[in-house]
Amino acid sequence: MGINISHDIDKSLNLSFNEYEMKMRDYAIENSVPIITDEGLRFLEDTIKKYNVKTILEIGTAIGYSAERISRANDVCVYTIERVDSMYNEALKNIKALGLSDKIHVIFKDALEAYPDVENVMFDALFIDAAKGQYKHFFELYEKNLKKGGIVICDNMSFHGFLDKDPSLMSRSLRGLVRKLRDFHDFLNNNPNYDTTYYEIGDGMSISIKK
Ligand SMILES: C[S@@+](CC[C@H](N)C(=O)[O-])C[C@H]1O[C@@H](n2cnc3c(N)ncnc32)[C@H](O)[C@@H]1O
Repeated sequence: MGINISHDIDKSLNLSFNEYEMKMRDYAIENSVPIITDEGLRFLEDTIKKYNVKTILEIGTAIGYSAERISRANDVCVYTIERVDSMYNEALKNIKALGLSDKIHVIFKDALEAYPDVENVMFDALFIDAAKGQYKHFFELYEKNLKKGGIVICDNMSFHGFLDKDPSLMSRSLRGLVRKLRDFHDFLNNNPNYDTTYYEIGDGMSISIKK
């Protein structure tokens, strides 16, 4: 079912989707919530349409900004996981105000513990946009529920340019994250079950297609 923009938006707010999204972006800036870049978002929406994604699992909801854009890009049913309660509550509020509660299911858990919540759902796509050190764990946990020909989209694959920097100049924790993200790149590159392409978009994105 298509979404009727003027009808579905919360009338009490009297805002269009565009105006409400602007509010969400302002909130993200004021509260230092890292949401996807405009360029990354365009790429994500184009990818969703190109692969005709209808069901997606997003890991890393934050305030629900990318989730609502994904949902509206192709009338997509979104499952999205968030572990921080303030983010979860803000996302629920936004999704309700946008009239998308029947299309976007927000799961309040650590993604490494949320598998039972989606174990019976098969996805056309996974979108990984959460703790950088856990990308490989997220991938391995949820790829079981990715359809053949489905895609895994990962954001922040360039990690703000840190992957190309000298590790000896980094703090210990940053070095650890960089090492894990490099390991994840190796894991994708050597994974015989997926074809992965990297894109210099936003903070670096990748698409892995399940063979
Ligand atoms: C980059 S933000 C997500 C941005 C969002 N996808 C967007 O573009 O609008 C990452 C979010 O993932 C959440 N997160 C990080 N690790 C997580 C985990 N293991 N389980 C669930 N959520 C996690 C963080 O709390 C944060 O809100």
